[in-house]
Amino acid sequence: MLSTLPRLIGHRGAKESAPENTLASLREAASQGARWVEVDVMLTRDLRPVLIHDDTLDRTTTGRGPVPLLDLDQLRQLDAGSWFDPRFADERVPTLEAAVGLIRELGLGLNLEIKPYPGQDVATARAALEVLRPLWPADRPLLLSSFEVPCLEVARDLWPEIPRGYLIWEEPADWAAIADRVGAASLNVNQEWQTAESVAAYRATGRPVLAYTVNDAERARTLFGWGVTAVFTDAPGRLAAELAEPSVRGCGKV
Ligand code: G3P
Ligand code: MG
Repeated sequence: MLSTLPRLIGHRGAKESAPENTLASLREAASQGARWVEVDVMLTRDLRPVLIHDDTLDRTTTGRGPVPLLDLDQLRQLDAGSWFDPRFADERVPTLEAAVGLIRELGLGLNLEIKPYPGQDVATARAALEVLRPLWPADRPLLLSSFEVPCLEVARDLWPEIPRGYLIWEEPADWAAIADRVGAASLNVNQEWQTAESVAAYRATGRPVLAYTVNDAERARTLFGWGVTAVFTDAPGRLAAELAEPSVRGCGKV
């Protein structure tokens, strides 16, 4: 059950100030005052869940090629920070275990986005839940989300009590039926395509709307005005300041 959400969720940690989906990015989000972070999880060749966004290593590491070409040990040799700034050269692609350990230490809520390499929907969801479940404290906020319906179905079947967010990129005609089928607790939508009407239609299903990715305070205000409950932002500290909120630790009722 999704009872409260923060207004701002740190996207891939705090992607504007640190290399996305690294432990440094999680620390940065916490230091900026974020209450929740969103991270992306994918599988290595040896089926270990790690935090990475792209299907390939090229953009965010010193490696090349598809993520599932490497075992965890090989992946851990790569530098996942220098592309962003040389001072992050020691960052590695984190395991989900390590990321969850740090998120717990930092006292953050988590939106884990299950981001399978194409064709690995079910395996990724299963492996991620297997790692996360024994580590996650029952009283700590957790939202599982995915663009991939089979991932949400796995989450629904294996860990039904944890809320699921249905991520929508291009709105399918049957989005409402899919949301019902996977038992979505929230609709996590692309902010760029939202209007007052689209947000109202989503809200009419009784679900909170979370919008990604919002780095502009004016846009955030507009979305909140339309009834969006929370936004994913690369810059939780900056946006909180620009929104003149005392801190991003403020909680909005769903
Ligand atoms: O979960 C919100 C957002 O992260 C979805 O898009 O591509 O940034 O993972 P993406
Ligand atoms: Mg994501």
